[in-house]
Parts: sequence; structure tokens; C-alpha cells
Amino acid sequence: MAAVDPILTVRDLDVYYGQAHILQGVNLAVGAEPVAVLGRNGMGKTTLCQALMGLVPTAHGTIEFDGADLAGRKPFQRAEAGFGYVPQGRRIFPSLSVHEHLRLVEQRGAAAAGGWTIERVYELFPRLAERRRNGAAALSGGEQQMLAIGRALLTNPRLLIMDEPSEGLAPVIVDHMVEALTRLSREGLAMLVVEQKLAVATALAERLVIVVNGRVALETTSAAFIADPAAQHRYLGI
Ligand SMILES: Nc1ncnc2c1ncn2[C@@H]1O[C@H](COP(=O)(O)OP(=O)(O)OP(=O)(O)O)[C@@H](O)[C@H]1O
Ligand SMILES: [Mg+2]
Repeated sequence: MAAVDPILTVRDLDVYYGQAHILQGVNLAVGAEPVAVLGRNGMGKTTLCQALMGLVPTAHGTIEFDGADLAGRKPFQRAEAGFGYVPQGRRIFPSLSVHEHLRLVEQRGAAAAGGWTIERVYELFPRLAERRRNGAAALSGGEQQMLAIGRALLTNPRLLIMDEPSEGLAPVIVDHMVEALTRLSREGLAMLVVEQKLAVATALAERLVIVVNGRVALETTSAAFIADPAAQHRYLGI
């Protein structure tokens, strides 16, 4: 199933940790519609995100973004090219306040250039505005996740890569986050979201890529996968 006018096309991506062949010829494409990558524990989802960001070396394959192959480029170059990354576990600095986190990444002249500003992040996540002076250590999991997403947005990405954003969050917080991400997607931000939770993946994306043992085992739609409990059991064990 091909994405229409993909901004990202990944072909034959291989990643090894030592002798272990973790990603085995992964192909996927992301266009204007969000794509969710679903898979159980240890299937290679984080490795895929890290390979896209250049945080683990790829042994083989291409990462074509907006016409250029980014495989082999450094992480900061991929960020400059337009990849925004929200890592699994959020990676927040406990000693910095919300506002300090955001100030670290806000780009000078962003407002004039029509880019993301801290004010716009606060508009998207009003809860962060209320907690702007709070140390990140005192934030709830949901607030930390919003902060991690806000931080990624301030780099003005054209593709947002998120690794299990719903992990450890209460359902009502997850709904909130899905709503905000859906808004961003409608405003034109391309998204690749890794998830372990079927309900979150299908709420965010109509296009699903199911990963099993480092390979794309199935490409489908949310509607088709929701209607197919046998496939859910086979690929996700649920
Ligand atoms: N730094 C590493 N060195 C060696 N093996 C690793 C390393 N990181 C991950 N692995 C292995 O690679 C495989 C894929 O791990 P990865 O973290 O990508 O899975 P995941 O799908 O993100 O899992 P989870 O849902 O638990 O986050 C696993 O078998 C894991 O044990
Ligand atoms: Mg992971």
C-alpha cells in the first residue's frame, strides 16, 4: 500500500546490534496521512526510530526524505532536514523547568518566519502553560509527554517521529494527546508514530504498518485491522 506523494520513503533498511540482525529489510513510506507502526515488545520499533534519526548505524538501505537520501547523515543533519523526534520514555531533564526546556530549542526569529514558538506550544497544550515554572521532575507522565512533543515541534519538523507516546499514560490523557496530534496532522505535519496499543495507533492513523521481528509483516488500514481479530491475534498476540 503506497503513500500518496511520500515525503519519507524507507527502503531495505537493515540494522545490526553486533551479530544480531534487528531490522531486516524494512520498507515504508509516509505521506500527508499519518502512519502508525505497531508491534509487540522487542520487535524493533525503537531501533527503527533510532535508525531514522541516525542514532544507530544502518548496515544497508536508504532513507529518502524530500528527495534526498539521509542514510549516513548525522543526527543533527536529519533534524535540520526536518525530522522531529519524540523518544520513548520522553527524555526530560528533571532539573529544568517546562519553560527552560522549551527555551533551549526555540529558534530565533521563529515567529517572524512563521515557525513554532513557545507561545504556540502553550496554545496547543494549555496545561504546559500552567506548569511553565514547574520543574520537569514534578510533572505528570502526560505533562512530560506534552513537553517532549512541544520540544520536538520547536525544531520546526516536517515529519514528526514519535516512539510510544501513549506509554504509561492514563486513557483520558491519551485522548487529549491524540486530539492535539490529529490537529497537527490536519494542519499538514507528516507523522510516523510507533505504538504498542492498537487503540492509540488506530485513533491516530488510518495507515498501519505491523512489525514482527524486525520485518514489516503486514501493511493494512485501521478499519481493516480493527475488523480482523484473527490478524490482531496473529501479529500482536491480542
Ligand atoms: N543497544 C542494544 N544492543 C543489543 N540489542 C539491542 C539493543 N537495543 C535493542 N536491542 C534488541 O533489539 C531488539 C529490538 O529492540 P527495540 O528496542 O527496537 O524494540 P521495541 O519494538 O522498541 O520494543 P518496546 O516495545 O519494548 O519498546 C530487541 O530484541 C532488543 O533486545
Ligand atoms: Mg521501543
